[in-house]
Amino acid sequence: MGFVKYEQEGFVGIVTIDRPKALNALNEEVLKDLEAAFDAIDLDTTRAVVVTGAGKSFVAGADIGAMSTMTAEEGEAFGKFGNDIFRKIETFPLPVIAAINGFALGGGNELAMSCDIRICSDKAVFGQPEVGLGITPGFGGTQRLGRIIGIGMAKELVYAGYNIKADKALEVGLVNAVYSPEELMPAAMKLAGKIAKQAPIAVRNCKKAMNDGLQVDMDQAIVVEEKLFGDCFNSEDQKAGMKAFLEKGKAEFQNK
Ligand code: HXC
Repeated sequence: MGFVKYEQEGFVGIVTIDRPKALNALNEEVLKDLEAAFDAIDLDTTRAVVVTGAGKSFVAGADIGAMSTMTAEEGEAFGKFGNDIFRKIETFPLPVIAAINGFALGGGNELAMSCDIRICSDKAVFGQPEVGLGITPGFGGTQRLGRIIGIGMAKELVYAGYNIKADKALEVGLVNAVYSPEELMPAAMKLAGKIAKQAPIAVRNCKKAMNDGLQVDMDQAIVVEEKLFGDCFNSEDQKAGMKAFLEKGKAEFQNK
């Protein structure tokens, strides 16, 4: 995992993309390391994950040098390679928070959008500049941006390919909050910590319900919820959480 660092603080895993010389641009190796970092996360002892970038960039996109000589087949395969990993992050059992410390361009914005929650520093810059390189977004940008910020603004950003700063990203709903660079990681850890204090099986079921529900119509979506809601009653934490409420106490959830 040469290009991706993993640390654990309590129940929170921190994944740092670490290729600062290329502003953390994603080539095949970085993507493989990113996947390996997620694969290695222990679901018994981890309850939330924070993804960030080393240095002044979150991720400045897919590696343009590596893409420059690709054939159509290679381009499609590269898109699939990244898409599969980002989808794995999107459907990862635990909540994933993107702490966007700088450039989140192209594949970088697409990585951020694969995470559940995005917060950023006031130095962050977002965009899908691919059309300026003669390509479309290829790691999910044409699909996720519209789902997150609405299709009208997403089309403007994708067609015109201009970048936006943190305040605009907040305004359009691409991020939930903006912090100073020093406050960003503490804020991400605080939010992850809040999530980690809740009943882990319930949190996981919430993520699954919200993700799976988006893929089907409302009639099916509420059934998705019913099943995951019902499943919570198999857990000890449901019993502990409700007992604690009724006894005016506070539950320490066991992830069981
Ligand atoms: C490869 C990159 C890179 C990238 C930066 N670098 N972004 N290398 N791929 N996406 C490298 C630069 O070449 C340079 O290397 C070093 O990082 C520092 O970058 P500078 O440009 O010198 O930094 P700065 O002047 O601060 O400008 C930062 C920047 C600019 C505005 C972010 O680097 C930039 O525009 N980068 C490209 C952003 C982009 O277009 N991303 C979308 C890519 S397409 P050297 O060796 O010269 O020091 C994409 C498609 C995804 O993501 C889907 C694929 C299927």
